[in-house]
Amino acid sequence: MEEFDLLVLGGGPAGYLGAERAAQGGLKTAVFEERALGGVCLNEGCIPSKTLLYCAKTYSHALHGEAFGIRAENLSIDHGAVIRRKVKVVKMLVSGVAAKMKALGVEVVAARAAITGKTADGFTVVAGGVTYAGKYLLVATGSAPVIPPIPGLGEGLERGFVMTNREILDLAKQPEHLAVIGGGVIGLEMASYFNAIGTKVTVIELLDKIAGQTEDEASAMLQTIYTKRGVDFRLGCRVTEVGDHAVAYEKDGQAGHAECDAVLLSAGRRAVTQGVGLETIGVYTDRGAIVTDDKMRTNIPHVWAAGDVNGRSMLAHTAYREAEVAVNDMLGKADAMRYDAIPSVIYTDPEAAGVGETVETARAKGLSVYAKKLSMRHSGRFLAETDRQDGLCKLVFEEGTDRLIGAHLVGSYASEIILSAGTMINTRWPLDSLKKIVFAHPTVGEIIREGLFEGQSPHL
Ligand code: NAI
Repeated sequence: MEEFDLLVLGGGPAGYLGAERAAQGGLKTAVFEERALGGVCLNEGCIPSKTLLYCAKTYSHALHGEAFGIRAENLSIDHGAVIRRKVKVVKMLVSGVAAKMKALGVEVVAARAAITGKTADGFTVVAGGVTYAGKYLLVATGSAPVIPPIPGLGEGLERGFVMTNREILDLAKQPEHLAVIGGGVIGLEMASYFNAIGTKVTVIELLDKIAGQTEDEASAMLQTIYTKRGVDFRLGCRVTEVGDHAVAYEKDGQAGHAECDAVLLSAGRRAVTQGVGLETIGVYTDRGAIVTDDKMRTNIPHVWAAGDVNGRSMLAHTAYREAEVAVNDMLGKADAMRYDAIPSVIYTDPEAAGVGETVETARAKGLSVYAKKLSMRHSGRFLAETDRQDGLCKLVFEEGTDRLIGAHLVGSYASEIILSAGTMINTRWPLDSLKKIVFAHPTVGEIIREGLFEGQSPHL
């Protein structure tokens, strides 16, 4: 039996970063991964989708470049070449993670692992027929797509007519008409890519808005922009059947359908807690996710859970920080997880990004708040780099203290700019101190500074 200080189940962002920090902290560590190091984020999520989206953005900026003096003839995008580039980028990053594990002396076990029980001073895990003993466990088994019980969906997935994020990022042939079930983050990013490269896209969404938790005006702006570009949004629609070359749905008692030659299923994700052996040691789960406290501890001493598996905020950057908190706790260093300043980004073109409270979420918590709203056209750089486009910056402040508690953006670089607002929320600095921060000029990010000085909007 091989003995370790820490056994990490899952080699995604929470798992590999947790293993990295643990090894740096002097713990003898093993990480188990049945597919590929890097998990969903590096292999079939964040990184591959951003590779595709950047290609699409480059193409569409050239295609619509007249206002910028760009005239291109016979411009085309080769979807196959885009996918080949994505494979290269993913390979590079995954091998980078593997190299880091090796350099730090982390043992990487390429097998599915399951917890099998407790020992006198720890736990046992079996992987690839070998038993490993560890004093501590970090469960980082991630998440998988939700497969709703819709007739024809399972069969469609088997035939390849229906895809999840995994298969669509490897799709060799560009579909003519893609139907997207679920207008959340994955649905919108893929709708954005396929719309840009010339596929007809229909998004079928259960709710009356797209982009899930995104601030209402930001989500409405995205919907307007993509509707103008030809994406067909069918909102408030419940999918009833996936048939041959069509998705059927029902809206207010009326039946409808979208014809298509491919379907993307992006109806949410669920924590992976089955087959992990959690029940053998009594780890508590709630609605399928591991319950954790702010130190990422589970109910079982010396067992932590980080990343999507605890279902708290299914984002890679949350996973990184949760893994750090868990390892710090193992090492006896004071640390705690905060969820109030976690940015979320949708990498459409333009991007949408938000952090902290919206007016609605704050009011639901009983807070008195006010918001300031600006058009991105206040930014010189935004005007220089866009043509007849608008964008949004909405900042949410606490009444009385004037503390910034939320920021919501639509526009170029929103994914990068949101860090400044997130930092402001994280530090809890008063407005007077925030106003003294010098931003580089000209940047689109200056819109945040502008928002700090603007008067309170009478409309909100
Ligand atoms: P999501 O939760 O963002 O969106 C799912 C959408 O599907 C919701 O709007 C929901 O109302 C809708 N829906 C559910 N069942 C439906 C049905 N039967 N018919 C029609 N619509 C239905 O989930 P998504 O897009 O699958 O993404 C999964 C996770 O991955 C999310 O937690 C997301 O945060 C993360 N992710 C993050 C990215 C980023 O940070 N840029 C990129 C992609 C994914």
